[in-house]
Amino acid sequence: MKLAGPHRKSQTRGSSRRPATLVLFKLDLGGALTRTPSPYAPCLGVSNGTNKGIVRKPSQTGRELRSGEPRAYRAIEPGRLNMARLQDKVAFITGAGSGIARAAARLFAQEGARVVIAELKTELGQMSEQAVRDIGGEAVFIETDVTKEESVKNSIRQTINRFGKLDILYNCAGGSIVQDAPVTEVDMSVWQHTISLDLLGTFNGCRHGIPELIKAGGGAIVNMSSVAALRGFPAHVYVAAKGGIISLTRALAGQYAKNGIRANAICPGLVKTDRVLQRFGDPDDPNSGTPQAQAMKRQFQRYPFSVGEPEDIARIALFLASDEARMITGAIVPADGGLSAY
Ligand SMILES: NC(=O)c1ccc[n+]([C@@H]2O[C@H](COP(=O)([O-])OP(=O)(O)OC[C@H]3O[C@@H](n4cnc5c(N)ncnc54)[C@H](O)[C@@H]3O)[C@@H](O)[C@H]2O)c1
Repeated sequence: MKLAGPHRKSQTRGSSRRPATLVLFKLDLGGALTRTPSPYAPCLGVSNGTNKGIVRKPSQTGRELRSGEPRAYRAIEPGRLNMARLQDKVAFITGAGSGIARAAARLFAQEGARVVIAELKTELGQMSEQAVRDIGGEAVFIETDVTKEESVKNSIRQTINRFGKLDILYNCAGGSIVQDAPVTEVDMSVWQHTISLDLLGTFNGCRHGIPELIKAGGGAIVNMSSVAALRGFPAHVYVAAKGGIISLTRALAGQYAKNGIRANAICPGLVKTDRVLQRFGDPDDPNSGTPQAQAMKRQFQRYPFSVGEPEDIARIALFLASDEARMITGAIVPADGGLSAY
């Protein structure tokens, strides 16, 4: 950005003081701005010297890309605002056979993405694939065990074979199990299970997804953490795994920004997926659930926005995955109704 000018105006602030000088600069953004009549230019305090205002050329984006720069650095073209939010994108979603990831698969497809349902359980994966096709979307189920590096590597390879590229990596497979407990009590088998599924699963997705995001000229990673990583909960293995995902997400953001990749994490409160409803009962039903679940429900009554539907989280993932969030990376987004705030 070159600064041209200055244009000077003089003001007198009182007889005993020297006149102050107000310096106005004319902005020259390397030709990225063009002059057309606009009533808003005076409000912006920016003059182009013609008093006619300044707006962007539709084909330019604030600054031109230097050769070799990731495509993801481009601002959204004004024309794209009328398009589906994930038009032409390919999204790889783990655990998309049920819950939040299944809702995301449908939503992403509705918004124009071609979706890979990377799911461990064949029946669930096929049901999600069909559900996306039923709404006219494009999806493929690829059997994937996120805890196994070879499986994830193979699924990413199949994604490229099928769709030719990868733009969005949504690492969603995970969840806590009922046997989780405080550190002095928990069985070490819970450590093995939960760290493998939540933390290693996310790590594997990044390890094999990121090279393809780079080849695509940049992209977006959305990781699933939890409110359990933002405040104390007695499921200590899950807490540790989800905390690790937050740290990993920030490190990814710093490491791969140069490749045009954004990485963000979502921390939901309680989301009424089938798994959660089975385990705790319906938090909206005061008569259902175990004593532990009842206590949890009382807590959630203090935080009325902290219980949501899978689609609530899927919409946040959609935003973070889309170019609308192109200034957001390294962010940890609580969707917990204030549980981590007050
Ligand atoms: N539901 C909540 O209240 C809640 C709250 C905070 C965070 N989260 C997080 O959101 C994510 C999704 O939660 P959910 O409630 O939708 O889960 P869910 O149990 O409804 O769905 C998880 C899916 O992952 C699949 N899966 C399990 N192991 C797998 C593996 N090894 N490889 C691939 N797929 C596998 C399951 O078959 C299932 O389809 C999880 O990471 C969870 O920790 C959920």
